[in-house]
Order: sequence, then C-alpha cells, then structure tokens
Amino acid sequence: MVTGASKGIGSAIAKELAKEGVRVFVTARNQQSLDSLSNEIVTEGNLAPIVFTQDLLAPNAPHIIATAALAALGHIDILINNAGQSQPVDVAGPEEPWTKSMALDFERPRLLTQALLPHFIARKQGTILNLTSTYELRSLNVSAIAKAAMAMWSKQLAGELGKYGIRVNCLQPGLIDTENIRPYFPGDERRKYAESEIPLQDFGEVQDMANMAVFLVSPRAKYITGTVSVVDGGGSRSAF
Ligand SMILES: NC(=O)c1ccc[n+]([C@@H]2O[C@H](COP(=O)([O-])OP(=O)(O)OC[C@H]3O[C@@H](n4cnc5c(N)ncnc54)[C@H](OP(=O)(O)O)[C@@H]3O)[C@@H](O)[C@H]2O)c1
Repeated sequence: MVTGASKGIGSAIAKELAKEGVRVFVTARNQQSLDSLSNEIVTEGNLAPIVFTQDLLAPNAPHIIATAALAALGHIDILINNAGQSQPVDVAGPEEPWTKSMALDFERPRLLTQALLPHFIARKQGTILNLTSTYELRSLNVSAIAKAAMAMWSKQLAGELGKYGIRVNCLQPGLIDTENIRPYFPGDERRKYAESEIPLQDFGEVQDMANMAVFLVSPRAKYITGTVSVVDGGGSRSAF
C-alpha cells in the first residue's frame, strides 16, 4: 500500500514497486491522477494497481483504507506512509494548520498503521516505510515537526515489532523536485539554494526516492529496521 500515490514521490514509488512485480494499492484524494498512474503501470506491462480514492483526513479514513486494502488484496506485505504536505506557519499563527498538519503527517499514518498491525503480526511479516522530512529548517514547518514524531514512533515501533519479523524504517528526503516544494523556490531560487546548500548541486528527483524506498521494503534490506535513510544530495550538515 502506498498513500499519497497520486503524484510526486508516492507515485514514483508505486511505479517502481509495480516494476518489481508488486501489486500496489494506491490511495490519495485525486481519482483522475490515480487512474492515470494505474494506466501508466498497466501500459508498462505490470500488475494493475488497486485504486482507492480517499481523503486521509476524513473521519475514520485510516480504518476505511485498511479495510478496503485487505478486502482487495487479501494480505498486505508493504505499507508506505507517504501522504503529506509541507505546512509553513507563523510563530504565533492560528491553530488550524497545526491540527491539520499534525494529523496528516503523523496521526493519520499512525492510525492507518495500527489498523493494519494485527494483520501484520498475525502473519509474522511485513515492512513499513514512513516518509519523513529534513530537520534542519530555520523556520517553522508543522509537517517537519510531525515527521520528527514519526521518526521517534518508527524507532519505537521497530523495537516492538522486530520479534514478529516486521521491519519499520523512515525515508527522509532532502529537497526533491515535486509540487510540494516548488512554490517555495520560484525562479532562480532553486539553483541558488542548491549551489550553496547541496553538495550534489541540485534538488533530487522522485526516482531517487523510489530507488531507495524499493530497496528498503525489499528482502535485500532484511536486516535493516529502526533506521532513517536520507536521500538529500548531501544537504544534511549532521554527520549522523
Ligand atoms: N518533496 C520534498 O522535497 C519533500 C521534503 C520533505 C518531506 N517530503 C515528504 O515526502 C512525502 C511526499 O511528498 P511529495 O513531495 O511527493 O508531495 P506531493 O507531490 O505534494 O504529493 C503529496 C501526496 O500526498 C497526497 N495527499 C495530500 N493530502 C492528502 C489527504 N488529505 N488525503 C490523502 N492524500 C493526501 C497527495 O494526493 P492528493 O492531492 O491526490 O490527495 C499526493 O499524492 C510527504 O510526506 C512529504 O511531507 C517531501
């Protein structure tokens, strides 16, 4: 299952998983984009995805998505919590963006995971990958704060679930060229920022994320759990 699969990183991950022979359950709000993703996957000769249109913030959405996915697939091996959206806020701004972003970028993926966990535990297998964010911002962005909670939750969950053979990891993008971040780097800003802050001199592509995501959920990563993998062109200043 890939959430937020209608565009950007999620769409690229779904396509890459399909290339590996995975039958993907793709969910987001935009039905048209999910349908065109599905067509693209089928045209490439891969297994037709299951498309499920759902606002993750709607009441009971995690339960609705989990139930639909289990009904359609029978079992789930891979959960990729990717849906999310950058949410800059003012230091003393209103409450609404905080509530919404903490829900979209942490609470809802946690509830979706919890809805699927009894199934994972009963089968003693499964892998969960949570998309997080950079933590080196010098301005307030609720999404990144929610993702910090996600990273801690993932680490703790990995500790709990290892005995069932279930792996939990985070995938942390630096700046990846998607609609999510383009508005913040208009015109020449992207080039200027990349040249001064990113050793590899440009933003990443969604395919860069998909490559790492598919590795992390594959059997090749069978001894990897409780980690945060960074794909950022070297942008992070921290050594660890
Ligand atoms: N791009 C970056 O540089 C960057 C940096 C840091 C973190 N990230 C994280 O990486 C993940 C993917 O980001 P992206 O850059 O690929 O963003 P994107 O291109 O904007 O895609 C976001 C996806 O999330 C879905 N989504 C948003 N709100 C939703 C809702 N209420 N219910 C269901 N689905 C919803 C969108 O689908 P619909 O609009 O169809 O619902 C879309 O498929 C996010 O978690 C983001 O926080 C990205």
